[in-house]
Amino acid sequence: MRKTFLTLIVVLFSIACVKAVEGMWLPSLIHKNIEEMQAMGLEITAEDLYSEDGASLKDAIVRFGRGCTGAFISGQGLLITNHHCGYGQIQRHSSVENDYLTEGFWASNADEELPNEGLTITLLVRMVDVTQRVLEATEPGMDELRFQEAVAKASRQIADEAKEEGLYEAQVNPFYFGNEYYLFVYKVYRDVRMVGAPPSSVGKFGGDTDNWMWPRHTGDFMLFRVYADDNNQPADYSPDNVPYQPEKFFPVSARTLEPHDFTMVYGFPGRTNRYLTSDAVQFIMEQENPMGIKLRTDILQIYDQHMASSDKVRIQYASKHAGVANAWKRWIGENRGLKRLNAIEVKKAYEQEFEQWIQENPSKGQAYEDLLSEFHNTYMIYNPLRYSFRLYFEAGRNVEVNRFAQQFMRLVSLSRQKDVAEDVLQAELEQVKDAARRFFKDYHAPIDQQVLSTLTRHFISLSQPGMLPPELEKVRKKYGMDTEKFAEDVFSRSMFVSEEKTMKLLDNYRPSHHRRIERDPAYRFAAGLFDFTITEVQTPMQEVQNKLDSLYRVYTAALKKMQPDENFFPDANGTLRISYGRVEGSFPRNGIQFLPFTTSEGILEKAAEPDVEDYTISERLSTLLKNQVFGEYASGEDLRVNFISSNHTTGGNSGSPVLDGQGNFIGINFDRSWESTMSDIMFDPEQCRNISVSSQYILWVIHKYAGMEYLLDEMEVAGLN
Ligand code: ARG
Ligand code: GLU
Repeated sequence: MRKTFLTLIVVLFSIACVKAVEGMWLPSLIHKNIEEMQAMGLEITAEDLYSEDGASLKDAIVRFGRGCTGAFISGQGLLITNHHCGYGQIQRHSSVENDYLTEGFWASNADEELPNEGLTITLLVRMVDVTQRVLEATEPGMDELRFQEAVAKASRQIADEAKEEGLYEAQVNPFYFGNEYYLFVYKVYRDVRMVGAPPSSVGKFGGDTDNWMWPRHTGDFMLFRVYADDNNQPADYSPDNVPYQPEKFFPVSARTLEPHDFTMVYGFPGRTNRYLTSDAVQFIMEQENPMGIKLRTDILQIYDQHMASSDKVRIQYASKHAGVANAWKRWIGENRGLKRLNAIEVKKAYEQEFEQWIQENPSKGQAYEDLLSEFHNTYMIYNPLRYSFRLYFEAGRNVEVNRFAQQFMRLVSLSRQKDVAEDVLQAELEQVKDAARRFFKDYHAPIDQQVLSTLTRHFISLSQPGMLPPELEKVRKKYGMDTEKFAEDVFSRSMFVSEEKTMKLLDNYRPSHHRRIERDPAYRFAAGLFDFTITEVQTPMQEVQNKLDSLYRVYTAALKKMQPDENFFPDANGTLRISYGRVEGSFPRNGIQFLPFTTSEGILEKAAEPDVEDYTISERLSTLLKNQVFGEYASGEDLRVNFISSNHTTGGNSGSPVLDGQGNFIGINFDRSWESTMSDIMFDPEQCRNISVSSQYILWVIHKYAGMEYLLDEMEVAGLN
């Protein structure tokens, strides 16, 4: 009795104390965190989460395409991911007659599911610590380049062995900047069919207006089905394929969540920079982000102006606008968050602590004595190069015709070779033609001319002394800062801004025509910027980057010695991870509290705002929500739409399942709040919240909105009352 009472006290106490947890953990090492997770409400074991013999939750999770995550929610290969992850597929299947983007798409049986060429899903079979074997291939004191070559060679060898004659894909990834290495063995399925997508007014509700923000009301999910051959193995698309039977799938929860319920996010986060030194953080905050924000603010203004005056242009530039705006808004949030956390000072204080530790432990610290000053000196060389590199990406490559004209560089160089094989040239020509068709479908030259003028002006004035590309030097000599005139000249003379002229060139192309391309002002400009950036910026930058990598390798190893009890997590690198936390709100600003849940009330509230296109909803949605037809998916009187929880996530976690303490699917991750976007560099347990679609809303949309009951029949719906 006394004992249970004590346990209860301990449990209650720990639940009350445990804060949001920073970190994206390797599933095979999750036993190191399991006690804390269980104290927070996890009811299953480390082996349930990840196991190599026998099914575990990891078998229900996939990398979707290249940059997203997905999860199996039925034994028949039914897969859920974000609407914004499958957006390209919906778009490709859409036409004016069948506008699935606007109307949504629902296959009412297997025959109506739509195949997607090129789309793959990737399953992790196993992961193995191969640190020893990789590092055996290196020698102490090797210079960084030779070290990296040795690592690459050993990694390739290990991966090749694991592929088992093409049965698997395999890759060795470095962790902690090359202090540890893991082999990842994957199985890749290639027949993935579209099953269901809500209309954009549900799946993309709120659009760019609400992007990166709470409160949110987006039904950002859609459904696919993975197919396999008769033996459940990967196969190219074939009507004879059968639904893949995953070793594990998630029951979908219809239960109403409570604040403080345990949550975990299981998926493929892309990249974080947790260990950056103060010099790097300062550079990002004071140079890199402000430059990107400034340039993209101007681009968006140009887009907005043209999109407002033509429906055609609005549709053409919708996805480009979303792309430019997404990173722009994230950088703004990241900078605000880093300032608020005093990130540079915090990093400096940590570095001082490190210095002190070295002084107090001369024996351990020998190798580290000059580390921080070397970091500093290296960053003084690296940062200007990185700046020029980023400036090229922002001011050069955000001009559409620069990107397009640059795609002709290979055609030019092939054409100049005397002995180039006819079929090689022909194949390249076909590629370029394809690129041209795609380019002109959504190209509005007046926008791009204005973008060229604006960005070139910024490119010139923001270039550091000695780093102005020769192409820009020429512009400056000829036009001064009148880049408007420069853009006007380029656009009146270049063939690459006109579909007709470009196609005329390509349809009658002969190798000698490379001269026409090389004379073209847009081509000359784009190719010149590209060449300069590769030779004068990227190549030297890579060398300094190698040096930085080797410093970070020493640094992260040292930090582990300095704080032996700390469970450091390795930066995200596109490999499978688990984050955990719980359902909780936050206090983003003085006088404002974020509650953890939003409901359908909020959809109607936003839809009532006049003139916000992102908040337009269909008659049907409006009627159903107004009449509160929530059925078994209601939470009391309400229909929950989105929720926030304190899981450490980043880009790539889109489509990741959010799970409760029993491993049930309670939602799908799709975003972070604006106040959290600095978490790639510095996590704040008070502020960092990931945003998910509630599983109750997902079930409701499938069942009550779309009427696709047969899909519910194949799922295992948990906790229905
Ligand atoms: N901010 C989310 C993620 O990076 C969602 C992006 C898609 N949504 C949008 N409105 N652009 O990346
Ligand atoms: N929307 C992001 C993605 O596409 C996830 C949000 C984040 O960066 O946390 O992966």
